[in-house]
Amino acid sequence: MLMGGPVVLVTTTWRGKTNVMPLAWHMPLSSKPQVIGISVEQSRHSAEMISHAQEFALNFPKRPYLHHVQYLGALSGEQIDKLDALQMETFPSTTITAPLIADCAAWIECQVVEVTPIGDHIVFAGLVTAVRIDTRSYEDGRWSIGDDEHRPLHFLGGHTYSALDRALQARLPHDYEAPERVLRDRILEELELTREARERREEQLAMLEREIERGNVVDIDELKIEIDTGDDRPLDLSRGAIL
Ligand SMILES: Cc1cc2nc3c(=O)[nH]c(=O)nc-3n(C[C@H](O)[C@H](O)[C@H](O)COP(=O)(O)O)c2cc1C
Repeated sequence: MLMGGPVVLVTTTWRGKTNVMPLAWHMPLSSKPQVIGISVEQSRHSAEMISHAQEFALNFPKRPYLHHVQYLGALSGEQIDKLDALQMETFPSTTITAPLIADCAAWIECQVVEVTPIGDHIVFAGLVTAVRIDTRSYEDGRWSIGDDEHRPLHFLGGHTYSALDRALQARLPHDYEAPERVLRDRILEELELTREARERREEQLAMLEREIERGNVVDIDELKIEIDTGDDRPLDLSRGAIL
Protein backbone atom coordinates (compact mmCIF):
# COMPACT_ATOMS: atom_id res chain seq x y z
CA MET A 1 0.00 0.00 0.00
CA LEU A 2 2.94 2.31 0.43
CA MET A 3 4.02 1.75 -3.18
CA GLY A 4 3.41 4.36 -5.85
CA GLY A 5 6.45 6.59 -5.62
CA PRO A 6 8.92 6.99 -8.48
CA VAL A 7 11.11 3.92 -8.85
CA VAL A 8 14.86 4.56 -8.94
CA LEU A 9 17.81 2.71 -10.40
CA VAL A 10 20.56 2.69 -7.79
CA THR A 11 24.03 2.70 -9.30
CA THR A 12 27.12 1.99 -7.25
CA THR A 13 30.75 1.28 -8.05
CA TRP A 14 33.20 -0.66 -5.95
CA ARG A 15 36.63 -2.03 -6.89
CA GLY A 16 36.15 -0.88 -10.49
CA LYS A 17 32.84 -2.73 -10.91
CA THR A 18 29.50 -0.99 -11.33
CA ASN A 19 26.14 -2.42 -10.38
CA VAL A 20 22.57 -1.24 -10.79
CA MET A 21 19.36 -2.27 -9.01
CA PRO A 22 15.80 -0.98 -9.16
CA LEU A 23 14.57 0.26 -5.80
CA ALA A 24 11.18 1.45 -4.60
CA TRP A 25 11.85 1.77 -0.87
CA HIS A 26 13.33 5.23 -0.59
CA MET A 27 12.44 8.25 1.47
CA PRO A 28 13.58 11.78 2.27
CA LEU A 29 15.13 11.84 5.76
CA SER A 30 16.25 15.46 6.21
CA SER A 31 16.14 18.70 4.24
CA LYS A 32 18.96 20.56 6.03
CA PRO A 33 21.26 18.87 5.27
CA GLN A 34 19.61 17.00 2.47
CA VAL A 35 19.64 13.30 3.33
CA ILE A 36 17.85 10.44 1.56
CA GLY A 37 17.24 6.95 2.91
CA ILE A 38 17.23 3.81 0.79
CA SER A 39 16.25 0.42 2.16
CA VAL A 40 18.14 -2.47 0.58
CA GLU A 41 17.51 -6.11 1.42
CA GLN A 42 20.58 -7.63 3.05
CA SER A 43 20.95 -10.38 0.44
CA ARG A 44 21.23 -7.94 -2.49
CA HIS A 45 24.62 -7.60 -4.09
CA SER A 46 24.04 -3.83 -4.03
CA ALA A 47 23.84 -3.90 -0.21
CA GLU A 48 27.38 -5.25 -0.05
CA MET A 49 28.65 -2.86 -2.71
CA ILE A 50 27.12 0.24 -1.09
CA SER A 51 28.46 -0.85 2.33
CA HIS A 52 31.98 -0.85 0.88
CA ALA A 53 31.72 2.06 -1.56
CA GLN A 54 29.91 4.32 0.93
CA GLU A 55 28.17 6.08 -1.94
CA PHE A 56 25.38 5.56 -4.45
CA ALA A 57 23.44 7.39 -7.12
CA LEU A 58 19.70 7.42 -7.72
CA ASN A 59 18.67 7.50 -11.38
CA PHE A 60 14.96 8.13 -12.03
CA PRO A 61 14.06 6.09 -15.13
CA LYS A 62 11.52 7.46 -17.57
CA ARG A 63 8.67 5.47 -19.01
CA PRO A 64 10.59 3.96 -21.97
CA TYR A 65 12.76 2.09 -19.42
CA LEU A 66 9.70 0.22 -18.08
CA HIS A 67 10.86 -3.24 -19.19
CA HIS A 68 14.51 -2.58 -18.36
CA VAL A 69 13.55 -1.78 -14.78
CA GLN A 70 11.70 -5.05 -14.29
CA TYR A 71 14.47 -7.05 -15.94
CA LEU A 72 17.19 -5.41 -13.85
CA GLY A 73 15.25 -6.45 -10.75
CA ALA A 74 15.44 -10.08 -11.82
CA LEU A 75 19.24 -10.17 -12.12
CA SER A 76 21.98 -10.01 -9.54
CA GLY A 77 25.17 -8.06 -10.06
CA GLU A 78 26.94 -10.88 -8.30
CA GLN A 79 26.58 -12.96 -11.46
CA ILE A 80 26.62 -10.47 -14.30
CA ASP A 81 27.51 -6.91 -15.22
CA LYS A 82 23.93 -5.69 -15.77
CA LEU A 83 24.77 -2.34 -17.37
CA ASP A 84 27.06 -4.06 -19.84
CA ALA A 85 24.64 -6.92 -20.54
CA LEU A 86 21.82 -4.51 -21.39
CA GLN A 87 24.19 -2.05 -23.06
CA MET A 88 22.81 0.81 -21.04
CA GLU A 89 24.48 4.13 -21.73
CA THR A 90 26.05 5.88 -18.75
CA PHE A 91 27.92 9.12 -18.09
CA PRO A 92 30.17 10.20 -15.21
CA SER A 93 28.69 11.63 -12.03
CA THR A 94 30.27 14.74 -10.55
CA THR A 95 30.90 13.90 -6.88
CA ILE A 96 31.07 10.10 -6.63
CA THR A 97 32.61 7.25 -8.60
CA ALA A 98 29.37 5.51 -9.61
CA PRO A 99 28.21 6.50 -13.11
CA LEU A 100 24.76 7.86 -13.97
CA ILE A 101 22.36 6.25 -16.44
CA ALA A 102 21.58 8.25 -19.58
CA ASP A 103 18.04 9.31 -20.55
CA CYS A 104 16.67 9.39 -17.03
CA ALA A 105 14.36 12.07 -15.63
CA ALA A 106 16.63 13.10 -12.74
CA TRP A 107 19.74 12.00 -10.86
CA ILE A 108 20.84 12.31 -7.24
CA GLU A 109 24.36 11.54 -6.04
CA CYS A 110 24.79 10.54 -2.38
CA GLN A 111 27.54 9.93 0.13
CA VAL A 112 26.60 7.40 2.82
CA VAL A 113 26.52 9.01 6.28
CA GLU A 114 24.74 6.34 8.28
CA VAL A 115 24.04 2.62 7.92
CA THR A 116 21.22 1.08 9.95
CA PRO A 117 20.24 -2.59 9.69
CA ILE A 118 16.48 -2.89 10.21
CA GLY A 119 15.00 -6.40 10.09
CA ASP A 120 16.05 -8.05 6.84
CA HIS A 121 16.98 -4.71 5.20
CA ILE A 122 19.76 -2.18 5.58
CA VAL A 123 18.87 1.50 5.50
CA PHE A 124 21.60 3.62 3.96
CA ALA A 125 21.27 7.32 4.73
CA GLY A 126 22.85 9.27 1.90
CA LEU A 127 23.90 12.89 2.10
CA VAL A 128 23.00 14.52 -1.21
CA THR A 129 26.17 15.72 -2.94
CA ALA A 130 24.79 16.58 -6.40
CA VAL A 131 21.44 16.74 -8.15
CA ARG A 132 20.61 17.11 -11.79
CA ILE A 133 17.34 17.07 -13.68
CA ASP A 134 15.95 16.83 -17.17
CA THR A 135 13.71 19.89 -17.33
CA ARG A 136 11.32 18.03 -19.65
CA SER A 137 10.55 15.82 -16.62
CA TYR A 138 11.07 18.02 -13.58
CA GLU A 139 10.69 21.77 -13.19
CA ASP A 140 9.99 24.33 -10.44
CA GLY A 141 10.57 21.78 -7.70
CA ARG A 142 8.18 19.09 -8.94
CA TRP A 143 7.54 16.49 -11.65
CA SER A 144 6.24 18.49 -14.58
CA ILE A 145 3.94 15.77 -16.08
CA GLY A 146 4.71 16.83 -19.63
CA ASP A 147 5.09 14.49 -22.60
CA ASP A 148 4.48 10.82 -21.82
CA GLU A 149 7.99 9.68 -22.66
CA HIS A 150 9.54 12.07 -20.13
CA ARG A 151 7.43 11.06 -17.13
CA PRO A 152 9.02 9.01 -14.36
CA LEU A 153 7.90 5.46 -13.65
CA HIS A 154 5.89 4.81 -10.52
CA PHE A 155 6.01 1.31 -9.08
CA LEU A 156 2.68 -0.16 -7.93
CA GLY A 157 3.97 -3.64 -7.04
CA GLY A 158 4.64 -6.93 -8.83
CA HIS A 159 5.11 -6.15 -12.53
CA THR A 160 2.83 -3.11 -12.46
CA TYR A 161 3.88 0.48 -12.92
CA SER A 162 2.11 3.73 -13.57
CA ALA A 163 2.91 7.18 -14.89
CA LEU A 164 1.54 10.40 -13.46
CA ASP A 165 -1.52 11.50 -15.37
CA ARG A 166 -2.12 15.15 -14.43
CA ALA A 167 -1.55 17.60 -11.63
CA LEU A 168 -4.38 18.56 -9.28
CA GLN A 169 -4.20 21.86 -7.44
CA ALA A 170 -5.54 21.85 -3.87
CA ARG A 171 -7.27 25.05 -2.69
CA LEU A 172 -7.38 26.13 0.95
CA PRO A 173 -10.49 27.72 2.47
CA HIS A 174 -10.23 31.49 3.11
CA ASP A 175 -9.84 32.67 6.72
CA TYR A 176 -13.45 33.93 6.78
CA GLU A 177 -14.88 30.62 5.56
CA ALA A 178 -15.95 27.71 7.78
CA PRO A 179 -13.33 25.12 6.77
CA GLU A 180 -15.45 22.03 7.49
CA ARG A 181 -18.31 23.32 5.30
CA VAL A 182 -16.10 24.55 2.46
CA LEU A 183 -14.09 21.32 2.43
CA ARG A 184 -17.25 19.19 2.50
CA ASP A 185 -18.56 21.13 -0.51
CA ARG A 186 -15.26 20.56 -2.29
CA ILE A 187 -15.64 16.78 -1.92
CA LEU A 188 -18.89 17.11 -3.84
CA GLU A 189 -17.17 19.35 -6.39
CA GLU A 190 -14.43 16.75 -6.94
CA LEU A 191 -16.97 13.92 -7.23
CA GLU A 192 -18.88 15.96 -9.78
CA LEU A 193 -15.70 16.54 -11.79
CA THR A 194 -14.83 12.82 -11.88
CA ARG A 195 -18.44 11.96 -12.81
CA GLU A 196 -18.38 14.52 -15.64
CA ALA A 197 -15.12 13.08 -16.95
CA ARG A 198 -16.63 9.59 -16.99
CA GLU A 199 -19.74 10.80 -18.78
CA ARG A 200 -17.63 12.67 -21.33
CA ARG A 201 -15.64 9.51 -22.02
CA GLU A 202 -18.83 7.46 -22.49
CA GLU A 203 -20.20 10.07 -24.89
CA GLN A 204 -16.99 9.96 -26.88
CA LEU A 205 -17.09 6.17 -27.05
CA ALA A 206 -20.70 6.21 -28.26
CA MET A 207 -19.78 8.79 -30.91
CA LEU A 208 -16.84 6.68 -32.01
CA GLU A 209 -19.05 3.61 -32.34
CA ARG A 210 -21.55 5.52 -34.46
CA GLU A 211 -18.81 6.78 -36.77
CA ILE A 212 -17.36 3.29 -37.16
CA GLU A 213 -20.78 1.88 -37.93
CA ARG A 214 -21.15 4.46 -40.70
CA GLY A 215 -17.84 3.28 -42.11
CA ASN A 216 -16.08 6.57 -41.41
CA VAL A 217 -12.43 6.94 -40.52
CA VAL A 218 -11.92 8.12 -36.95
CA ASP A 219 -8.82 9.74 -35.53
CA ILE A 220 -8.61 8.09 -32.12
CA ASP A 221 -5.66 10.21 -31.00
CA GLU A 222 -7.74 13.34 -31.35
CA LEU A 223 -10.41 11.89 -29.06
CA LYS A 224 -7.80 11.34 -26.35
CA ILE A 225 -9.41 8.13 -25.13
CA GLU A 226 -7.93 4.73 -24.64
CA ILE A 227 -9.28 1.91 -26.74
CA ASP A 228 -9.48 -0.91 -24.27
CA THR A 229 -11.59 -3.74 -25.55
CA GLY A 230 -11.26 -5.54 -22.23
CA ASP A 231 -13.19 -2.70 -20.60
CA ASP A 232 -16.51 -3.02 -18.71
CA ARG A 233 -18.02 -1.32 -21.71
CA PRO A 234 -16.07 -2.71 -24.65
CA LEU A 235 -15.97 -0.77 -27.85
CA ASP A 236 -17.87 -2.68 -30.51
CA LEU A 237 -15.55 -2.89 -33.48
CA SER A 238 -17.38 -5.73 -35.18
CA ARG A 239 -18.77 -3.38 -37.80
CA GLY A 240 -15.69 -1.39 -38.52
CA ALA A 241 -11.95 -1.34 -38.33
CA ILE A 242 -9.26 0.77 -36.73
CA LEU A 243 -6.53 1.71 -39.14
C1 LIG B 1 10.45 -2.09 -9.24
C2 LIG B 1 11.35 -2.77 -8.26
C3 LIG B 1 11.57 -2.23 -7.01
C4 LIG B 1 12.41 -2.84 -6.10
N1 LIG B 1 12.63 -2.27 -4.89
C5 LIG B 1 13.52 -2.81 -4.04
C6 LIG B 1 13.82 -2.16 -2.81
O1 LIG B 1 13.29 -1.11 -2.49
N2 LIG B 1 14.74 -2.75 -1.99
C7 LIG B 1 15.35 -3.93 -2.31
O2 LIG B 1 16.17 -4.43 -1.54
N3 LIG B 1 15.06 -4.57 -3.48
C8 LIG B 1 14.18 -4.03 -4.35
N4 LIG B 1 13.92 -4.64 -5.53
C9 LIG B 1 14.58 -5.92 -5.85
C10 LIG B 1 16.00 -5.73 -6.41
O3 LIG B 1 16.06 -4.71 -7.35
C11 LIG B 1 16.49 -7.04 -7.04
O4 LIG B 1 16.55 -8.03 -6.06
C12 LIG B 1 17.81 -6.87 -7.73
O5 LIG B 1 18.01 -8.00 -8.56
C13 LIG B 1 18.99 -6.74 -6.78
O6 LIG B 1 20.15 -6.64 -7.55
P1 LIG B 1 21.59 -6.84 -6.97
O7 LIG B 1 21.62 -8.21 -6.31
O8 LIG B 1 22.49 -6.77 -8.17
O9 LIG B 1 21.85 -5.74 -6.01
C14 LIG B 1 13.06 -4.06 -6.45
C15 LIG B 1 12.83 -4.62 -7.72
C16 LIG B 1 11.98 -3.99 -8.61
C17 LIG B 1 11.76 -4.58 -9.97
